[in-house]
Amino acid sequence: MPFTANRQFKKAPRLFVEAKDMHYTTDDGRKVLDGTAGLWCVNAGHRRPKIVEAIARQAHELDYAPAFQMGHPKAFELAARLTNLTPPGLDKVFYTNSGSESVETALKIAIAYHNARGHGSRTRLIGRERGYHGVNFGGISVGGIVPNRKVFGSLLTGVDHMRHTHDLARNAYSRGQPEHGAELADDLERIVALHDASTIAAVIVEPVAGSTGVLIPPKGYLQRLREICDKHGILLIFDEVITGFGRLGSPFAAEHFDVTPDMMVTAKGLTNGIIPMGAVFVRNEIHDAFMHGPEHLIELFHGYTYSGNPMAAAAGLATLETYQEEGLLQRGAELEDYWADAIHSLRDCPHVIDTRNIGLIGAIELEPIDGQPTRRAFSAFLDAFESNILIRTTGDIIALSPPLIIEKAHIDELFETLRAVLKRLD
Ligand SMILES: Cc1ncc(COP(=O)(O)O)c(C=O)c1O
Repeated sequence: MPFTANRQFKKAPRLFVEAKDMHYTTDDGRKVLDGTAGLWCVNAGHRRPKIVEAIARQAHELDYAPAFQMGHPKAFELAARLTNLTPPGLDKVFYTNSGSESVETALKIAIAYHNARGHGSRTRLIGRERGYHGVNFGGISVGGIVPNRKVFGSLLTGVDHMRHTHDLARNAYSRGQPEHGAELADDLERIVALHDASTIAAVIVEPVAGSTGVLIPPKGYLQRLREICDKHGILLIFDEVITGFGRLGSPFAAEHFDVTPDMMVTAKGLTNGIIPMGAVFVRNEIHDAFMHGPEHLIELFHGYTYSGNPMAAAAGLATLETYQEEGLLQRGAELEDYWADAIHSLRDCPHVIDTRNIGLIGAIELEPIDGQPTRRAFSAFLDAFESNILIRTTGDIIALSPPLIIEKAHIDELFETLRAVLKRLD
């Protein structure tokens, strides 16, 4: 099982058999409140009729069309709808099937783009400590979560990492963006000084790092990163796999922070989690740099059998309609204050060393048990599940990211239950 304590699970399986809106149903008939939108992906809530019907219709109409040298209208229709939501200039889309594949796609496009412009020496990729960019070799190379990397060999060469931005000494219990740490973006200047800009293709960061335990960018940090990339001709890639599609109260984090990257990596909320699909958005100039040479030749030697698959495209279109009809891409902003109050109300619970929030994301960081990192948070996860709420833990951090249809009464229930769980922890 992926990222699972397999032996523990097999001894006491946790199984969901049904889901609707904000709740899962377990195999023993309990309703569990979804505090994590599945895995940060079911942004419109579960089993939404429009999406379910669109998939059923599509299966009866066109099940599959070859992705290479052929197309189908819905892939283009979806691309047009999506690029209405992206920041201006990011109008070209490449489809994948997951966040990990979107990351690989963006990294490859970055290197190939410089090559296409005659800058073949720009091959180096820069990530950040504690970054999560999926599990494929490019992603774990630029990623910075140690257990995800350390047993998998030498990874990609030509990769370096900036420092992460987590600083509890200065920023603990921040509401929204932390005050301190914009200067950490200058770490990129140190890396440029070491390797020279002429060897660097791209920098990839999560605007809000999720899987490592919710690290929110300090005020001014992303702006500074953008400036440094511009100064040195380095592409800036935002990994928006969790921040995309409304998590922060706007379609993408790029809009929320008012920083436009050169590429945006997405997946998850694109289809509300129902069918695997990812998309990489690129600046028009990046796309155009490939569009030369004889017209019968393939311009980019990259793609997947299921890129833009009709079923996924149908799910994507229906998902965007659901988001739009219900104002879900803005809902994170409407609920942010109520959500923030609820998160920070837990700061006095036992073992809590930080609470933090942005949009509809929250994190509660716990003091690890001496010599047994992750154990305390995992106990919280198990107790929470028995108490009918689904939370997610990473390290000793509890991360929350509910479906965007959450109501205030659900927020109350989630945090009252979590308070009781935290009070029971050893
Ligand atoms: C920022 C980020 N990038 C990439 C991924 C990988 O996505 P997937 O699991 O769909 O490959 C994730 C998954 O959580 C993510 O949070």
